[in-house]
Amino acid sequence: MNLLLYGAPGSGKGTQANMLRAHYGIPHIATGDMLRAEIASGTELGRQAQPILAAGRYVSDDIMIGMIRNRLRQPDCEPGFIMDGFPRTVPQAEALDGLMLDLGKRFDRVIYLRVPIDDLLHRLSGRLVCPRCQRTYPPGTLACEVDGSPLVQREDDKPEAVRPRIEIYLEKTVPVLDHYRVGGLVSEIDGRGTIEEISRQVLAAANGRVKA
Ligand code: AP5
Ligand code: MG
Repeated sequence: MNLLLYGAPGSGKGTQANMLRAHYGIPHIATGDMLRAEIASGTELGRQAQPILAAGRYVSDDIMIGMIRNRLRQPDCEPGFIMDGFPRTVPQAEALDGLMLDLGKRFDRVIYLRVPIDDLLHRLSGRLVCPRCQRTYPPGTLACEVDGSPLVQREDDKPEAVRPRIEIYLEKTVPVLDHYRVGGLVSEIDGRGTIEEISRQVLAAANGRVKA
């Protein structure tokens, strides 16, 4: 089962990916989480990426494609994976087509979580994250339910970074959806219900029971 979660910042990709990971027992590949791990470890890539993420801009296609090329070759991806946050540009989508072909894999479904911009702004400004495992939580949550860590605000959820993130999504990432629509792989889900309601629809889409 190879799934691709598509949606704007704050649309619920990470939230639903956690559910899918638990359900199918396959890895969650989240390029934002991978970049934040590089930053936390103080690697050269992390040092380059930190100001880019803080400003809400995109890391270069070359770096991101190289990162995904290495990740998809890891043995834990063999039974399948859940991709979140990649591809974010048309060149990334084209490169991913080539990587999947080389690996003899294909996506079973692209799940688009559709959320209006006003809701996104509201969600991002209140979101809390676990600094240890990167799970995300709604406002008012005190500690991570998995490892008990006190929750923090993500650097790019500060007001000055949220607008640029939405703007770059509209400019560079919206065209990626058309790339997958052409292949008839997209299930579009209204991402505004409760997390549990959305999860039911995401699972139905992943299992091929819903086609939009
Ligand atoms: P990334 O970490 O991928 O951020 P993003 O795409 O901006 O998405 P988010 O993680 O903010 O949102 P989400 O959809 O996962 O929502 P969540 O589930 O947390 O990327 C970060 C940065 O890294 C990028 O800006 C860029 O700089 C760089 N980067 C990453 N990939 C790149 C690439 N391929 N190329 C170039 N640069 C790249 O939910 C949000 C909140 O809403 C939470 O509080 C959650 O609890 C709540 N929520 C979830 N579902 C619901 C619901 N149904 N109702 C109410 N609240 C809900
Ligand atoms: Mg996320």
